[in-house]
Amino acid sequence: QGLNALMVAAGKLYMGTAIETNNFNDAAYMAIANDRNEFGLYVPENSQKWEEIQPAVNTFSFAAPDSIDALAKKNGQMFRCHTLTWHSQLPTFVANGTWTKDTLSALITTHITNIVTHYAGSCYAWDVVNEALNDNGTFRSSVFFRTMGTDFLPLSFTVASKADPNAKLYYNDFNLETLPRKADAAVALVKLVQAAGAPIHGIGFQAHFRVGQTPNTTSLVALQNRFVALGLDTTFSELDIAHTSLPPNSTAIERQAQDYVGVVAACLAVQRCVGITLWQFSDKYSWIPTTFPGLGDACLWTANFTKKPAYSSVASFL
Ligand code: XIL
Repeated sequence: QGLNALMVAAGKLYMGTAIETNNFNDAAYMAIANDRNEFGLYVPENSQKWEEIQPAVNTFSFAAPDSIDALAKKNGQMFRCHTLTWHSQLPTFVANGTWTKDTLSALITTHITNIVTHYAGSCYAWDVVNEALNDNGTFRSSVFFRTMGTDFLPLSFTVASKADPNAKLYYNDFNLETLPRKADAAVALVKLVQAAGAPIHGIGFQAHFRVGQTPNTTSLVALQNRFVALGLDTTFSELDIAHTSLPPNSTAIERQAQDYVGVVAACLAVQRCVGITLWQFSDKYSWIPTTFPGLGDACLWTANFTKKPAYSSVASFL
């Protein structure tokens, strides 16, 4: 049995993966991606980000995410959607525009309404707001925060909810798993959205970890439970565990396997954890080596599509 089948048997909704249309012409890759036994959910790695989906004012480009959505439907897989209000991968007209609170509110409203309406009924969940916090727990100085203060948060969730009342609406961020101050700030952020009367249904922990520095299962369970106490679902939304020394030695290879198992165990231990999404499943397409030079080999399959010991350990744990 593959990872998704095993996750479903364990009571979860899915094991998913990030994917992009430029992967579609790689037959060996797609043989694994299309196998619902392995993956029960796709998330577009880049094509729903603002710079790609609305590169110019009121010019929307749905072709790439549409074909990922269509493939998911054909395969009987779920579709997770990523992301709406995020400071990164913004077109310059947004990032460098001259905005007032009213004009930026209108822009966010138009952006979210158009996109969420287009995918209404297709997206199981949306990462509505991504990475609004600094590592020290203060709000990131994005164009959104500089112009609107925290009002962009409830606005984003409210507009998304109106456009698709059935989508699960998530706040998604990284380093919540390792930085207590940032986790505290995310708890406060969720409470702020709730206090404003806006719907928020889930917390996404990106889970971009490093071998030997992955938080243990106990701490990941405790972290999730802080958000469960606020009524939220939880997920590990972009899991990868990078080697810090390449090529990895046998100790590190075994440690990567233990680290992956620890994260999967943390999802199984929390009833409200809905599933896990891998941020690509093969090293061939992982973002890690280009973004973090010197790091790599972070995925469960090698660049040649053989399963790593970490795959076998996760499968036997499940
Ligand atoms: C990354 C993609 O994997 C890369 O291809 C792209 O160049 C940059 O973005 N947090 C997120 C994801 O929420 O959208 C990021 O994806 C990785 C970090």
